[in-house]
Amino acid sequence: MMPIRRDIRFKLPAARIHDWHSHGPQVTHFFNALSVFFPVGERFFIASVRNYRDQVTDPGLKKAVVAFIGQEAMHGREHERYNRLLQADGMPVQDMEKLVIRVLGIARKLTPRSWQLATTLALEHHTALIADLLLSNPDLLAGSDPAFRRLWQWHALEETEHKAVAYDVWNEAIGSGSVPYLVRSVSMVFTSLAFWTLVAEFSIRMIETDPETRRRPRGYLDLANFLFGKQGMFRASLPAWLDYFKRSFHPWQHDNRQLLEQIGAVTSDTAVMRLGAEA
Ligand SMILES: [Fe+2]
Ligand SMILES: [Fe+2]
Repeated sequence: MMPIRRDIRFKLPAARIHDWHSHGPQVTHFFNALSVFFPVGERFFIASVRNYRDQVTDPGLKKAVVAFIGQEAMHGREHERYNRLLQADGMPVQDMEKLVIRVLGIARKLTPRSWQLATTLALEHHTALIADLLLSNPDLLAGSDPAFRRLWQWHALEETEHKAVAYDVWNEAIGSGSVPYLVRSVSMVFTSLAFWTLVAEFSIRMIETDPETRRRPRGYLDLANFLFGKQGMFRASLPAWLDYFKRSFHPWQHDNRQLLEQIGAVTSDTAVMRLGAEA
């Protein structure tokens, strides 16, 4: 699977920023909280993969690393624009970004480069899980504002395309023995705890900042149902999250490449404007 960098800009309607999701404003705030992480997080992913770039000898993987960096840079740019709309709408995004920068800065200072790459692997597994859910259950975004829906679908498709790149760099540069297995497993536990704690905190902060959702505490039930209900996102992705702890795990053991067939339809819609050729 060779990822392709696509230079696409999304025209997101500012007026819908706090209520673009068909399941209501609380679910909108959950997705918006995820968006806060991307520009900062993706810079961290790029830096931690770059640290090992010189140790990659496989020509195919070298090419995939370049494409991975290109894709994450485009995602960061589009989520940066997305997050500025949130800030303009009164959401304390800059404070949240500062917190993410601080947390990742501590990880950079206190842990060796291998742990930073393990953190990237863990977060890439999360993005791959969320991407698989969104793409294989169109109901999760159906009826939402088309521009926001396209942006999330585009991001999900490219996360699927490059889901194994950081992992393959890990295998080539660090290896797949007992110590690397232990490092990536322990790192997954800590990374998951830190990530979902912050996602929950940011979602609640957004819900409490928005006067519309602050007045409707019952809306938390909509969100709880969306995440933990019978068809909920978390329930659906728990088995795939656990797969990561298998000694023989590889992201493509879950072969969902058929989902990538949607990419033409997603990126050619009038809600998006193509700026450059695929590189
Ligand atoms: Fe991304
Ligand atoms: Fe990614």
